[in-house]
Amino acid sequence: MKFSALLAIAPLVAALPGSHSKNSDAPFSVISARSASPIHLLPLNAAGSYFWLGGNAHSYSPVPGVPETNQTVIAGGHFLDVKVPGGQAIYVDPKGALRFTTPHSAYEPAGASDGPFAYKPGASFGHWSYSGQGASGFMACPTTNGTSGYRRSRRGAAAAPKWQVYAALQNATVPSGKVNDCLGFDALAVSVNSTAPAAWEYI
Ligand SMILES: *[C@@H]1O[C@H](CO)[C@@H](O)[C@H](O)[C@H]1NC(C)=O
Ligand SMILES: *[C@@H]1O[C@H](CO)[C@@H](O)[C@H](O)[C@H]1NC(C)=O
Ligand SMILES: *[C@@H]1O[C@H](CO)[C@@H](O)[C@H](O)[C@H]1NC(C)=O
Ligand SMILES: *[C@@H]1O[C@H](CO)[C@@H](O)[C@H](O)[C@H]1NC(C)=O
Repeated sequence: MKFSALLAIAPLVAALPGSHSKNSDAPFSVISARSASPIHLLPLNAAGSYFWLGGNAHSYSPVPGVPETNQTVIAGGHFLDVKVPGGQAIYVDPKGALRFTTPHSAYEPAGASDGPFAYKPGASFGHWSYSGQGASGFMACPTTNGTSGYRRSRRGAAAAPKWQVYAALQNATVPSGKVNDCLGFDALAVSVNSTAPAAWEYI
């Protein structure tokens, strides 16, 4: 990860006034779309450094006045919409899993991919995609044990989601061991009308 790049863009993202504009840096949330499937219209959520369809975001705020949220908001194309200094980048790890950096750390494992990610705003909703390594967007992979990352963070124990998000790569290392168990989906981007970052940090 290029930490300098992250530092360079963090103030930019934070400075977007209201970010209501339909530009590619504006904040948005993601809903999965794959009709007639169990992953149709589930929210994309950040928890335990991974992304899931369903469940809740796991956020944390040490700061009075910045509430915790169950909603996952992305800004600047591939960053979580957070206030924590240094920001939190979104990347694809060497197994193909969609991940986010932990607060106060720009660490990404060797072989991680920073993109390209692209957010295309639309009239009612837009699209978010990942085309690094020749991937065609995202896929959701069924997981039963794969919820350890979700459980590690605070509220996970109750209802861990059944689907973990990966880049749509044939060679991804997925929880069931079989990429054919995964379902590709469209990441519909719903623009977020907010003047402040969605969370202090996601954990
Ligand atoms: C988040 O979701 C949990 C469990 O559904 C709920 O108890 C909590 O009140 C929610 N928090 C916020 C900030 O919405
Ligand atoms: C998976 O395939 C992509 C595209 O061929 C390649 O860029 C990437 O390095 C591969 N990843 C691994 C872990 O082999
Ligand atoms: C699920 O369990 C298998 C077998 O123990 C392991 O290889 C895989 O990494 C686990 N998946 C996750 C996401 O932890
Ligand atoms: C967005 O927020 C602004 C300021 O709070 C408000 O005036 C506007 O109506 C909102 N737009 C939508 C689409 O909710």
